[in-house]
Amino acid sequence: MNVFITREIPDEIKQPLIDEGHTISEWKEKRVMTDSELIDHCKQSDALLCISQKLDSYFFEQCSHLKVIATNSVGFDHIDVAKATELNIPIGNTPEVLSKATSDIAFLLMQNVARKAFFWHKEIVNGNWEFLDPFKNLGIDLQGKTLGIFGLGRIGFELAKSSKGTFDMPIIYHNRSKNEKAESELGARFVSFEKLLEQSDVISVHANLNEENKGIFNKSSFDKMKRTAIFINTARGGLHNEPDLLQAIQEGTIGGVGLDVTNPEPMCKDNPLLEMQNAVVLPHIGSATIETRTAMATLSVKNILAGLKGEQLPECLNPEVYR
Ligand code: DGY
Repeated sequence: MNVFITREIPDEIKQPLIDEGHTISEWKEKRVMTDSELIDHCKQSDALLCISQKLDSYFFEQCSHLKVIATNSVGFDHIDVAKATELNIPIGNTPEVLSKATSDIAFLLMQNVARKAFFWHKEIVNGNWEFLDPFKNLGIDLQGKTLGIFGLGRIGFELAKSSKGTFDMPIIYHNRSKNEKAESELGARFVSFEKLLEQSDVISVHANLNEENKGIFNKSSFDKMKRTAIFINTARGGLHNEPDLLQAIQEGTIGGVGLDVTNPEPMCKDNPLLEMQNAVVLPHIGSATIETRTAMATLSVKNILAGLKGEQLPECLNPEVYR
């Protein structure tokens, strides 16, 4: 059968598809394909392995013949999963394998913002490493500060564990449901969204983006946070309102920000956040390690193989299709 892949992946990871006799075609251009190019390719395919490509209801109406779709990501806000379910198309994703790498980036951002590491690096590059001024541009200690997690699933758990272990940070969280493991193993405490905003010294976002939480970190949320609070987002840029965030940093409503995801992506190179000493921005590299990206692509290939055999996907977002 024909498998279409929207971003190149290493040959050895694709090999199991070839071993099963499938034919692979890949998008090799160094640009994002248009919606109609995607549909044209999918019309000639039985399976799609994609990443971050928008798959809306129009796409599914045009490509209802697909036997399986695997997104090479844990996030699935780009996919109309309900529509896929209606058409009986199983959708696979890549949870778990990227939890540690992604939480490491949140941990790195938290420390970098707290100690202004990127700012100091830029100062050296700009020739401003002069003399030791003991009370200039100081960072803050994280030891014993409260970490608030919005969306305490697998990635949030890993961050909570690192932060508790390294800085003895008390953990509070807000979720749709309670995380018993985090409560018993890390002493995490469930709080309302309001309390999360009011009590956290660092807020780290780890929720899936959906219609309910889109833009939930906006002016009204930033106004409720501590003036020293650090806001970290490694989940999806759509969870925060970026003009409101910029205003909150510029006016000192909050203390700092670390982003691995922006709204929109890519961030424009003249965004003022890139010049601020209490802001650090990375280009969506949460899962970008050799080990993790290999594990993600391997899992995506397994999802495709299972789907083409008519078996349940190892990681399926809509297992209802099997009922
Ligand atoms: C994910 O896996 O969702 C990452 O954000 C990459 O898109």
